[in-house]
Amino acid sequence: MSNNTDNTVWKKILPVDDIPVMGSRILQASVGPIAIFRNAQDEVFAILDECPHKGGPLSQGIMHGKTVTCPLHSWNIDLSTGCAQEPDEGCAKSFALKIEAGQVYLNLEEIQAPHA
Ligand code: FES
Repeated sequence: MSNNTDNTVWKKILPVDDIPVMGSRILQASVGPIAIFRNAQDEVFAILDECPHKGGPLSQGIMHGKTVTCPLHSWNIDLSTGCAQEPDEGCAKSFALKIEAGQVYLNLEEIQAPHA
């Protein structure tokens, strides 16, 4: 089973160790600010740093496992999808990532503005 059709270009962003545990770092990408979170299990998630409610800075929220609570009005956002948990609705864009040799990579195409 080969996967030769995958032309994804992965861009090295930063070492996992540079992200505080249960915290985040911001990448200013042309698509917008991307919050890169790390939880206590060293899982890493990348979503747009704009709450689907009113654009609150999710990177400043409190993490619990795989969710972050928005600092503005306390919506809980699932970090793996970027979507608000019920009863709230809406999603922040989430970004594909991979970790290789302790480095976080994002899909270059996804983090560029559509016509950059
Ligand atoms: S802006 Fe995030 S909950 Fe309102």
